[in-house]
Amino acid sequence: MENNDSVDVLQEGLQTIHYTGQVAKLLSISHSTVKKSISDLGLDIETSMCGTVSRRTFCTKDLFELAVKKRDKSRKDPAKKLKIFIVWNEKGGVGKSSFTREFATILGLKGFRVLVVDADPQNSLTTMFGYNAEIDEEIAREYGIPDNMVIKNHFGNLLELPPLFRRSKAPIFSEMLKKPFGEYGPHLIPSNESLSSLSYSLEKDPYGATVIGNTIRRALKTPSDDLDLSDYDIMIFDCNPSKTALIDALYYASDFLVIPVRLDALSVKGVSQALDVRDAMASKGVENVPYPLIVGNMYKAGAARCSRNYSRLAEMYPSNLVSQTIRESEDMNKALEDSLRVPVTLAAPSSKLTSDLFAVTEEILKKCGI
Ligand SMILES: Nc1ncnc2c1ncn2[C@@H]1O[C@H](COP(=O)(O)OP(=O)(O)O)[C@@H](O)[C@H]1O
Ligand SMILES: [Mg+2]
Repeated sequence: MENNDSVDVLQEGLQTIHYTGQVAKLLSISHSTVKKSISDLGLDIETSMCGTVSRRTFCTKDLFELAVKKRDKSRKDPAKKLKIFIVWNEKGGVGKSSFTREFATILGLKGFRVLVVDADPQNSLTTMFGYNAEIDEEIAREYGIPDNMVIKNHFGNLLELPPLFRRSKAPIFSEMLKKPFGEYGPHLIPSNESLSSLSYSLEKDPYGATVIGNTIRRALKTPSDDLDLSDYDIMIFDCNPSKTALIDALYYASDFLVIPVRLDALSVKGVSQALDVRDAMASKGVENVPYPLIVGNMYKAGAARCSRNYSRLAEMYPSNLVSQTIRESEDMNKALEDSLRVPVTLAAPSSKLTSDLFAVTEEILKKCGI
């Protein structure tokens, strides 16, 4: 990093402001329920003047606090059972990371406690949540960047895979978590380049294929400072495109496999590759292979190619294709350029792209029985 480069620093939970109407829309509740919930839940929401009228001003973190507390209060059965998703397609550029970010955001708005894991050494998800994996401790000191913006650890540091990864040297779990939207929004286990050695370590270890699944299962039984997943409802892994030992290990750990595909390109091959990995596991006798869901992305209305690809997928995978598609929209690219990294769902709540993303998420939840 050059000395004259400026460094954007995320202020966690303060990405954007919403007024009551938008909050009502994003949480699918009425204006009066928003107001009532604020007082029932004892939330501290600022007000600002608009002419002579005062109005409530919600920051990003407030939105998630309201969503989570409201769901917690209305839940009949407070027992949690963590559901794990892997998002994968061997092809790059199909929208895995973009979808993961919006999916996690929408699940958070539905009141779920979400943990997203950037399992790609190229760390685009980490970047999409507003963190810069290039900032090391030295750069942070030089530019006066707060310590919590430095990515010191990644998911691999939670595993026992000697000689590179040892739990005795594992970071304290709560200290490695990033909370881009505050305490109640989705939490993130970030990634940086050094995650690339994880696949190699998994490959060399005789128990490599099962180590992630077993670590998670153990942590659910006996939470500790090293790994405590007991508060989460949903965990999502965003993966690197190529098929590595990490992908095998994450398939073993996951309940559901989301396969995003580009509908404007030849997409059938990517789907069959993702399903082959699953079938290979099943043929080796693995019982819990993840249930696949295919999500059509970058749908262009009026492009015959897109509807042809969609129909083909629907014919081949009738029960696994999510019937709602995600349109191609500049909003997705804009949301990446914005230095504050606000997800489309929050930056453009009334856009058609956001309604597609909500509909896809709702269909996935339904298909998964969540
Ligand atoms: N629905 C969409 N409409 C337009 N562009 C999209 C859409 N989904 C993803 N993109 C763009 O496609 C590019 C690749 O997306 P990304 O999520 O990084 O893919 P992957 O993780 O599969 O490599 C990004 O520039 C992203 O903005
Ligand atoms: Mg990606």
